[in-house]
Amino acid sequence: MTSADLVGPLRVGLLGHGTVGSAFATLIEQRAAAIERLTGRRLEPSGVLTRSRGDFEEILAGSDVIVELLGGIEPARSYVLAAIEAGKHVVTANKQLLCQHGEQLWAAAAERGVALGFEAAVAGVVPVVRVLRSSLAGAHVERVHGIVNGTTNFILSEMTRTGANYDEALAQAQELGYAEADPTEDVGGKDAAAKMAILARLAFGAPVRLEDVRYEGIEGITVDDIEYARELGLGLKLLGTAERVDGGIAVSVHPAFLYAGHPLASVSGPFNAVTIESEAITEVTLSGPGAGGPQTASAVLGDVVAVIQGSVAALAPADPLPIVSDTVSAFYLHLEVVDRPRVLAAVAQVLGDHEVSVKSVVQKGLGDNARLVMVVHPVLSSRFERAREQIARLEEMRSSPRAIRVLEEEFT
Ligand SMILES: NC(=O)c1ccc[n+]([C@@H]2O[C@H](COP(=O)([O-])OP(=O)(O)OC[C@H]3O[C@@H](n4cnc5c(N)ncnc54)[C@H](OP(=O)(O)O)[C@@H]3O)[C@@H](O)[C@H]2O)c1
Repeated sequence: MTSADLVGPLRVGLLGHGTVGSAFATLIEQRAAAIERLTGRRLEPSGVLTRSRGDFEEILAGSDVIVELLGGIEPARSYVLAAIEAGKHVVTANKQLLCQHGEQLWAAAAERGVALGFEAAVAGVVPVVRVLRSSLAGAHVERVHGIVNGTTNFILSEMTRTGANYDEALAQAQELGYAEADPTEDVGGKDAAAKMAILARLAFGAPVRLEDVRYEGIEGITVDDIEYARELGLGLKLLGTAERVDGGIAVSVHPAFLYAGHPLASVSGPFNAVTIESEAITEVTLSGPGAGGPQTASAVLGDVVAVIQGSVAALAPADPLPIVSDTVSAFYLHLEVVDRPRVLAAVAQVLGDHEVSVKSVVQKGLGDNARLVMVVHPVLSSRFERAREQIARLEEMRSSPRAIRVLEEEFT
């Protein structure tokens, strides 16, 4: 039995009082009566820790549940571990902590018999953690696709909607509060990679750390890419993918073009969405606000209620699977070339030599130069990369060839 199993108020110790922490403090006040009606327990704030106030040991001693909203690795990791070891339930929104130290923390929680809730760590208020952890716990998940970063989805949506370039769309995102002053982790793909590592751990039961995720961001995306893709009937997203491949798993985050009918193609602005695929269930797509103080606080509060209800499922020990890094994908290839006869033939020759076959081509003249934009059929990414490197060395090239993945499935 843990202290939260006793009757009386549930004492909630809050670590962090920033964007999410302050929204959570407000929310538990607003929702206290409704939660007492629902669960029979009253939520009672038992202390707040920031850099300038509060003492962790005192808060720990006086709490039944510790809510960690500090962010970063230390001291968050030590505090979460100390809380678990003291028999306290923990709720956290800290994706970086979980994608680097999750196994240690989940094992400690299972051993001590306490709950470790982390719904808010992935896709904000979208309840994908609960669905994978409980509702679909028995499903054999084949693949999870996610738009799990609202900042990049907003930027790409703005570039598509208004024709703005990357810098203009980023500035707009910062002005509206969708991007932080230092947006590096979001636009570079690291934030999404952390979330995909956690989703992969839940979907496949295998340990997945941040360094197992191949990721790239959206900094190199140009207005041209988006315009040409439109001509090919494609939309652009920063897409996380976790999938079973050849007896192992592959987890990645890349900009990717989707056909208009794909369930994730219509997710725009700062929204997040995750599609879970399994043979038995076909697919389930969940979407909603992916970040923001009140939204994330709502997911945190949901976990606190789940703690009272005893419905936070324990995570089974991880069972390692090989991490596969070379996966099959279709690609969009953007080439700036000298406008003279036989250039297309030279490019086609290189692609053919590497067994890369072309699905569609758009060619446009630009004075002495021309643009060739093509989509190639699915191919092992290492083979496509070798072809791209060889194309880059052709004397007809005017700039480095750019490539973006294309999700091949056409949904109708
Ligand atoms: N913001 C979002 O929309 C969002 C969405 C999903 C998940 N999350 C996650 O939620 C967590 C919190 O994010 P946030 O945006 O609320 O962060 P934030 O605004 O930077 O707030 C962090 C809070 O933690 C406190 N803190 C940081 N280091 C501390 C230390 N060493 N000792 C004591 N207090 C410390 C800060 O204290 P001071 O007030 O004294 O500086 C501040 O109150 C992170 O894990 C983040 O990834 C955030």
